[in-house]
Amino acid sequence: MVKLQKPEFVYMNGGLRSWNDAVLHIGCEAVTRGLSVFEGLKGYWGRDGCFRIVELRRHYERLQRSARLLHIPFDTSYDAYEGAIFQLAAALLGTERDMWFRTTLYVTEGHWGEGTAADLVVTAYHTEKEIPESIDIGVSTWRRSVDLALPARIKASTNYQVARLARIEGRPRGWSDMVLLNQEGRVAEATGACVLMVRDGTIYTPPATEGALESITLDLVESLASSLGVGFVRRPIDRTELLIADELALCGTLAEITLVRSVDGFTLPSNRITGAIQSKYFAIMRAEEAFGGVVLSAVHSTAATVREPISVSGSRG
Ligand SMILES: Cc1ncc(COP(=O)(O)O)c(C=O)c1O
Repeated sequence: MVKLQKPEFVYMNGGLRSWNDAVLHIGCEAVTRGLSVFEGLKGYWGRDGCFRIVELRRHYERLQRSARLLHIPFDTSYDAYEGAIFQLAAALLGTERDMWFRTTLYVTEGHWGEGTAADLVVTAYHTEKEIPESIDIGVSTWRRSVDLALPARIKASTNYQVARLARIEGRPRGWSDMVLLNQEGRVAEATGACVLMVRDGTIYTPPATEGALESITLDLVESLASSLGVGFVRRPIDRTELLIADELALCGTLAEITLVRSVDGFTLPSNRITGAIQSKYFAIMRAEEAFGGVVLSAVHSTAATVREPISVSGSRG
């Protein structure tokens, strides 16, 4: 998890601002109705000294889709989006830590969908370079909302109220994350990541229609599994399957590949396959291993200005 930080700069209103100047008016819909959509992106330092951001274009496209579904105008071009992130990265990056970026479209003008205008704000936070430790998780009593109410497919900030409640619920029991079930009682996802379950040598994960975000990392895990000769199946998952699984892991841009030690007090017997996926994931992110299934864009941050991005590999798939 990213520790709470107050970085020196934020990208807002088309340029860099100081953290203290990055404020919204209390009257805007971003504040009164929590109306904003966002993306979380990760950048890694490679062993070759190059800093690369993962799947920039796919994050841009998902932000576009979230905005479209909530009738929020988003006319920023891909180049401008990328430029904003690179500009902030160049201002804040240090070589000793990686970065997580939050690109948020805050609704700053309008009322109930009339005269809506939004501002693209980019914030960036330092993250440690270590591979995440294995965690204990639980299954929450709180449920993922249905597609007809708060659709999981829209990455809206308001979707995370239930995630917050679930984390508060699990904290006294020492659970660092929680699985949210959908209204039918099947697995949807974790509070900020998708669920990977291994049974009999195959990885299973619920399809997005079970109430999970359409995850970019999950697509990468599918490619990694295929490269390792491991089966990968998207199908509904019952609650009890989690308890008798061979392995569990969470995956997402920020969660990366986090192995699960126990769920609801049930210890998972193995991490053979999820551990192999985790090792390969980090080898790729650290540019120790080339992989055609992910697009990484290089940022040159040692100068005050940013060099043209370099796509280090081909398209996904
Ligand atoms: C609720 C939720 N589910 C799943 C994910 C994983 O999505 P991605 O792999 O695109 O980061 C995230 C992370 O952004 C998330 O917040």
